[in-house]
Amino acid sequence: MTVSKSAVLYRDLALEVLPLVGAEGNHIILKNDQKIYLTPRGGAAVSCIGWGNKRVAQAIMDQILEAPYCATIFYTTKVQKRLYRSLVDSTKGHMARAYIVNSGNGSCSKACQTSYHGTTLGALAVRGHEYRRAEFEPFLMKNVSRMSLCFEYHGKKPDESGDSYVARLIKELEDEFQRFGPERVYVFIAEPMVGAYRGIFKAVQAGCQRYSTLLILDEVICGIGRTGTLYAWEQEDIVPDIQTIGKALGGGAFAHGHTYQGHPAACAAALEVQQIIQKEKLLDNIRDL
Ligand SMILES: Cc1ncc(COP(=O)(O)O)c(C=O)c1O
Repeated sequence: MTVSKSAVLYRDLALEVLPLVGAEGNHIILKNDQKIYLTPRGGAAVSCIGWGNKRVAQAIMDQILEAPYCATIFYTTKVQKRLYRSLVDSTKGHMARAYIVNSGNGSCSKACQTSYHGTTLGALAVRGHEYRRAEFEPFLMKNVSRMSLCFEYHGKKPDESGDSYVARLIKELEDEFQRFGPERVYVFIAEPMVGAYRGIFKAVQAGCQRYSTLLILDEVICGIGRTGTLYAWEQEDIVPDIQTIGKALGGGAFAHGHTYQGHPAACAAALEVQQIIQKEKLLDNIRDL
Protein backbone atom coordinates (compact mmCIF):
# COMPACT_ATOMS: atom_id res chain seq x y z
CA MET A 1 0.00 0.00 0.00
CA THR A 2 1.42 3.43 -0.89
CA VAL A 3 1.71 6.00 1.84
CA SER A 4 -0.38 9.02 1.02
CA LYS A 5 1.37 12.23 -0.14
CA SER A 6 -1.70 14.19 0.76
CA ALA A 7 -1.46 17.09 3.22
CA VAL A 8 -4.47 15.64 4.99
CA LEU A 9 -3.64 13.76 8.19
CA TYR A 10 -6.06 10.88 7.75
CA ARG A 11 -7.39 8.82 10.65
CA ASP A 12 -5.23 5.87 9.58
CA LEU A 13 -1.78 6.86 8.31
CA ALA A 14 -1.53 3.77 6.12
CA LEU A 15 -4.83 4.22 4.36
CA GLU A 16 -5.76 6.44 1.48
CA VAL A 17 -9.43 7.26 1.67
CA LEU A 18 -11.70 7.64 -1.35
CA PRO A 19 -12.46 11.13 -2.73
CA LEU A 20 -16.10 12.04 -2.27
CA VAL A 21 -17.36 14.65 -4.69
CA GLY A 22 -21.08 14.74 -4.03
CA ALA A 23 -24.02 13.40 -2.07
CA GLU A 24 -27.73 13.33 -2.82
CA GLY A 25 -30.67 11.39 -1.42
CA ASN A 26 -29.33 8.05 -0.23
CA HIS A 27 -26.19 8.07 -2.40
CA ILE A 28 -22.72 9.42 -2.14
CA ILE A 29 -20.78 10.03 -5.32
CA LEU A 30 -17.07 9.24 -5.61
CA LYS A 31 -14.58 10.68 -8.03
CA ASN A 32 -12.25 7.76 -8.81
CA ASP A 33 -14.42 5.74 -11.15
CA GLN A 34 -17.54 7.77 -10.68
CA LYS A 35 -19.03 5.01 -8.55
CA ILE A 36 -22.20 5.82 -6.74
CA TYR A 37 -22.49 4.19 -3.33
CA LEU A 38 -25.82 3.61 -1.65
CA THR A 39 -25.55 4.71 1.98
CA PRO A 40 -28.33 2.97 3.91
CA ARG A 41 -26.55 3.71 7.20
CA GLY A 42 -26.50 7.44 6.51
CA GLY A 43 -22.70 7.68 6.77
CA ALA A 44 -21.73 7.19 10.40
CA ALA A 45 -25.46 6.96 11.22
CA VAL A 46 -25.66 10.70 10.62
CA SER A 47 -28.03 11.49 7.76
CA CYS A 48 -31.70 11.00 8.65
CA ILE A 49 -33.52 12.82 5.84
CA GLY A 50 -31.15 12.06 2.97
CA TRP A 51 -28.15 13.97 1.69
CA GLY A 52 -28.33 17.37 0.03
CA ASN A 53 -31.71 18.54 1.27
CA LYS A 54 -32.25 21.95 -0.35
CA ARG A 55 -34.42 23.29 2.47
CA VAL A 56 -31.69 22.63 5.00
CA ALA A 57 -29.05 24.18 2.74
CA GLN A 58 -31.23 27.26 2.28
CA ALA A 59 -31.85 27.55 6.04
CA ILE A 60 -28.09 27.50 6.66
CA MET A 61 -27.48 30.08 3.94
CA ASP A 62 -30.23 32.39 5.22
CA GLN A 63 -28.81 32.15 8.72
CA ILE A 64 -25.27 32.86 7.60
CA LEU A 65 -26.46 35.99 5.80
CA GLU A 66 -28.48 37.11 8.84
CA ALA A 67 -26.09 36.37 11.72
CA PRO A 68 -23.15 34.14 10.78
CA TYR A 69 -21.59 33.73 14.20
CA CYS A 70 -22.52 34.33 17.81
CA ALA A 71 -20.14 34.37 20.79
CA THR A 72 -22.60 32.58 23.07
CA ILE A 73 -20.82 33.74 26.21
CA PHE A 74 -22.15 37.26 25.48
CA TYR A 75 -25.05 36.96 23.05
CA THR A 76 -27.86 34.78 21.79
CA THR A 77 -29.67 34.48 18.46
CA LYS A 78 -33.31 33.99 17.44
CA VAL A 79 -32.45 30.66 15.85
CA GLN A 80 -30.71 29.45 19.01
CA LYS A 81 -33.79 30.23 21.09
CA ARG A 82 -36.15 28.57 18.58
CA LEU A 83 -34.10 25.37 18.27
CA TYR A 84 -33.54 24.97 22.02
CA ARG A 85 -37.25 25.59 22.68
CA SER A 86 -38.23 23.01 20.07
CA LEU A 87 -35.82 20.44 21.61
CA VAL A 88 -37.06 21.04 25.13
CA ASP A 89 -40.71 20.86 23.97
CA SER A 90 -39.95 17.60 22.14
CA THR A 91 -39.36 15.91 25.53
CA LYS A 92 -43.05 16.62 26.38
CA GLY A 93 -42.22 18.68 29.41
CA HIS A 94 -39.75 16.19 30.92
CA MET A 95 -36.66 18.26 30.30
CA ALA A 96 -36.01 21.90 30.96
CA ARG A 97 -32.99 23.12 29.01
CA ALA A 98 -30.81 22.32 26.05
CA TYR A 99 -27.07 22.86 25.62
CA ILE A 100 -25.56 22.50 22.18
CA VAL A 101 -21.85 21.73 21.90
CA ASN A 102 -19.91 20.62 18.88
CA SER A 103 -20.17 16.84 18.90
CA GLY A 104 -21.23 13.67 20.69
CA ASN A 105 -17.75 13.60 22.25
CA GLY A 106 -18.33 17.03 23.69
CA SER A 107 -21.62 15.99 25.22
CA CYS A 108 -20.38 12.79 26.94
CA SER A 109 -17.58 13.00 29.39
CA LYS A 110 -19.86 5.71 34.68
CA ALA A 111 -20.86 3.41 31.63
CA CYS A 112 -21.56 -0.14 30.45
CA GLN A 113 -19.02 -2.54 29.00
CA THR A 114 -18.70 -2.07 25.23
CA SER A 115 -20.53 1.23 25.23
CA TYR A 116 -19.21 4.06 23.09
CA HIS A 117 -19.36 7.68 24.12
CA GLY A 118 -16.50 9.22 22.14
CA THR A 119 -12.74 9.61 22.03
CA THR A 120 -11.96 12.58 24.29
CA LEU A 121 -10.19 11.62 27.53
CA GLY A 122 -13.46 12.07 29.44
CA ALA A 123 -15.52 10.02 27.01
CA LEU A 124 -12.79 7.36 26.73
CA ALA A 125 -12.60 7.03 30.50
CA VAL A 126 -16.25 6.07 30.76
CA ARG A 127 -16.55 3.91 27.73
CA GLY A 128 -16.05 0.16 27.59
CA HIS A 129 -14.18 -0.61 24.36
CA GLU A 130 -10.88 -1.90 25.80
CA TYR A 131 -9.00 -1.80 22.48
CA ARG A 132 -9.94 1.83 21.94
CA ARG A 133 -8.90 2.75 25.50
CA ALA A 134 -5.61 0.84 25.57
CA GLU A 135 -3.24 3.53 24.22
CA PHE A 136 -4.66 6.21 26.49
CA GLU A 137 -5.07 4.13 29.66
CA PRO A 138 -2.47 6.04 31.77
CA PHE A 139 -4.30 9.33 31.18
CA LEU A 140 -7.84 8.14 31.92
CA MET A 141 -9.82 8.87 35.07
CA LYS A 142 -9.65 5.91 37.44
CA ASN A 143 -12.75 6.67 39.48
CA VAL A 144 -15.01 5.02 36.94
CA SER A 145 -16.49 1.54 36.91
CA ARG A 146 -18.54 -0.35 34.35
CA MET A 147 -21.52 -2.59 34.76
CA SER A 148 -21.94 -5.81 32.80
CA LEU A 149 -23.55 -5.27 29.45
CA CYS A 150 -27.28 -5.85 29.70
CA PHE A 151 -27.84 -8.01 26.64
CA GLU A 152 -30.18 -10.97 27.12
CA TYR A 153 -28.91 -12.82 24.05
CA HIS A 154 -25.34 -13.00 25.37
CA GLY A 155 -25.75 -12.41 29.10
CA LYS A 156 -28.77 -14.43 30.28
CA LYS A 157 -27.92 -17.93 31.54
CA PRO A 158 -29.93 -20.77 29.96
CA ASP A 159 -31.66 -21.64 33.25
CA GLU A 160 -32.43 -18.00 34.10
CA SER A 161 -35.73 -16.18 33.57
CA GLY A 162 -35.73 -12.65 32.14
CA ASP A 163 -36.73 -11.24 35.53
CA SER A 164 -33.98 -13.06 37.41
CA TYR A 165 -31.47 -11.88 34.77
CA VAL A 166 -32.46 -8.26 35.41
CA ALA A 167 -32.43 -8.90 39.17
CA ARG A 168 -28.85 -10.23 38.91
CA LEU A 169 -27.70 -7.13 37.03
CA ILE A 170 -29.46 -4.84 39.47
CA LYS A 171 -27.72 -6.59 42.37
CA GLU A 172 -24.43 -6.05 40.57
CA LEU A 173 -25.24 -2.36 40.26
CA GLU A 174 -26.25 -2.10 43.92
CA ASP A 175 -23.05 -3.91 45.00
CA GLU A 176 -21.03 -1.46 42.92
CA PHE A 177 -22.80 1.53 44.50
CA GLN A 178 -21.91 0.08 47.93
CA ARG A 179 -18.30 -0.65 46.94
CA PHE A 180 -17.78 2.93 45.81
CA GLY A 181 -19.88 4.44 48.58
CA PRO A 182 -23.22 5.65 47.14
CA GLU A 183 -22.57 9.24 48.15
CA ARG A 184 -19.51 9.22 45.87
CA VAL A 185 -21.32 8.02 42.75
CA TYR A 186 -22.21 11.19 40.90
CA VAL A 187 -23.25 9.95 37.49
CA PHE A 188 -24.49 6.82 35.72
CA ILE A 189 -24.18 6.99 31.95
CA ALA A 190 -25.42 4.42 29.44
CA GLU A 191 -26.60 4.05 25.87
CA PRO A 192 -30.24 2.94 25.94
CA MET A 193 -29.88 0.71 22.86
CA VAL A 194 -27.24 -1.93 23.51
CA GLY A 195 -29.49 -4.97 23.58
CA ALA A 196 -30.95 -3.86 26.89
CA TYR A 197 -33.59 -6.02 28.56
CA ARG A 198 -36.95 -4.36 29.22
CA GLY A 199 -37.15 -3.24 32.84
CA ILE A 200 -33.46 -2.74 33.43
CA PHE A 201 -33.60 1.02 32.96
CA LYS A 202 -36.49 1.42 35.38
CA ALA A 203 -34.42 -0.38 38.01
CA VAL A 204 -31.35 1.70 37.13
CA GLN A 205 -33.33 4.89 37.47
CA ALA A 206 -34.68 3.77 40.86
CA GLY A 207 -31.10 3.09 42.02
CA CYS A 208 -29.95 6.51 40.79
CA GLN A 209 -32.84 8.24 42.52
CA ARG A 210 -32.14 6.38 45.78
CA TYR A 211 -28.59 7.71 45.86
CA SER A 212 -29.12 11.09 44.15
CA THR A 213 -26.95 9.97 41.23
CA LEU A 214 -27.48 11.75 37.92
CA LEU A 215 -28.77 9.46 35.17
CA ILE A 216 -27.36 10.39 31.76
CA LEU A 217 -28.58 8.56 28.68
CA ASP A 218 -26.38 8.85 25.63
CA GLU A 219 -28.78 9.01 22.68
CA VAL A 220 -26.23 10.41 20.23
CA ILE A 221 -26.84 7.47 17.90
CA CYS A 222 -30.29 6.14 18.88
CA GLY A 223 -32.10 9.42 19.56
CA ILE A 224 -34.16 11.67 17.26
CA GLY A 225 -36.64 9.06 16.11
CA ARG A 226 -34.38 6.16 15.24
CA THR A 227 -36.30 3.75 17.51
CA GLY A 228 -39.77 4.98 16.54
CA THR A 229 -40.14 7.45 19.39
CA LEU A 230 -38.21 10.68 19.35
CA TYR A 231 -36.10 9.44 22.28
CA ALA A 232 -35.46 5.76 23.10
CA TRP A 233 -36.06 6.37 26.83
CA GLU A 234 -39.70 7.14 26.08
CA GLN A 235 -40.21 3.39 25.52
CA GLU A 236 -38.62 2.50 28.85
CA ASP A 237 -41.10 4.56 30.87
CA ILE A 238 -38.32 6.56 32.48
CA VAL A 239 -36.88 10.05 32.12
CA PRO A 240 -33.12 10.63 32.39
CA ASP A 241 -31.78 13.71 34.17
CA ILE A 242 -29.70 14.54 31.11
CA GLN A 243 -29.73 13.14 27.62
CA THR A 244 -27.21 13.63 24.86
CA ILE A 245 -28.34 13.73 21.24
CA GLY A 246 -26.31 14.21 18.10
CA LYS A 247 -26.21 12.43 14.82
CA ALA A 248 -29.74 12.88 13.48
CA LEU A 249 -30.11 16.34 14.97
CA GLY A 250 -28.67 18.27 12.07
CA GLY A 251 -28.74 15.29 9.70
CA GLY A 252 -25.03 15.72 9.04
CA ALA A 253 -25.31 19.37 8.15
CA PHE A 254 -22.89 20.94 10.60
CA ALA A 255 -20.38 20.27 13.39
CA HIS A 256 -18.02 22.72 15.08
CA GLY A 257 -15.70 23.48 18.03
CA HIS A 258 -16.53 24.97 21.42
CA THR A 259 -15.80 28.52 20.38
CA TYR A 260 -18.61 27.84 17.97
CA GLN A 261 -21.04 26.18 20.35
CA GLY A 262 -24.66 27.04 19.69
CA HIS A 263 -23.46 28.20 16.27
CA PRO A 264 -26.30 29.95 14.43
CA ALA A 265 -25.75 28.01 11.20
CA ALA A 266 -25.71 24.69 13.11
CA CYS A 267 -28.89 25.74 14.92
CA ALA A 268 -30.55 26.70 11.62
CA ALA A 269 -29.64 23.29 10.13
CA ALA A 270 -30.87 21.39 13.20
CA LEU A 271 -34.11 23.38 13.39
CA GLU A 272 -34.89 22.78 9.72
CA VAL A 273 -34.11 19.04 9.96
CA GLN A 274 -36.33 18.68 13.05
CA GLN A 275 -39.16 20.53 11.27
CA ILE A 276 -38.85 18.21 8.27
CA ILE A 277 -38.99 15.16 10.59
CA GLN A 278 -42.19 16.55 12.10
CA LYS A 279 -43.94 17.89 8.99
CA GLU A 280 -43.21 14.82 6.92
CA LYS A 281 -44.29 12.52 9.76
CA LEU A 282 -41.07 10.51 9.59
CA LEU A 283 -41.64 8.99 13.03
CA ASP A 284 -44.92 7.45 11.83
CA ASN A 285 -43.03 6.02 8.89
CA ILE A 286 -40.37 4.49 11.17
CA ARG A 287 -43.09 2.88 13.31
CA ASP A 288 -44.86 1.52 10.21
CA LEU A 289 -41.63 0.05 8.89
C1 LIG B 1 -23.59 6.69 21.60
C2 LIG B 1 -22.51 7.66 21.10
N1 LIG B 1 -22.05 8.64 21.94
C3 LIG B 1 -21.10 9.54 21.52
C4 LIG B 1 -20.56 9.47 20.24
C5 LIG B 1 -19.49 10.46 19.81
O1 LIG B 1 -20.05 11.38 18.90
P1 LIG B 1 -19.11 12.30 17.96
O2 LIG B 1 -18.37 11.39 17.05
O3 LIG B 1 -20.08 13.24 17.28
O4 LIG B 1 -18.20 13.08 18.86
C6 LIG B 1 -21.01 8.48 19.34
C7 LIG B 1 -20.47 8.40 17.97
O5 LIG B 1 -20.59 7.40 17.27
C8 LIG B 1 -22.02 7.54 19.78
O6 LIG B 1 -22.48 6.57 18.96
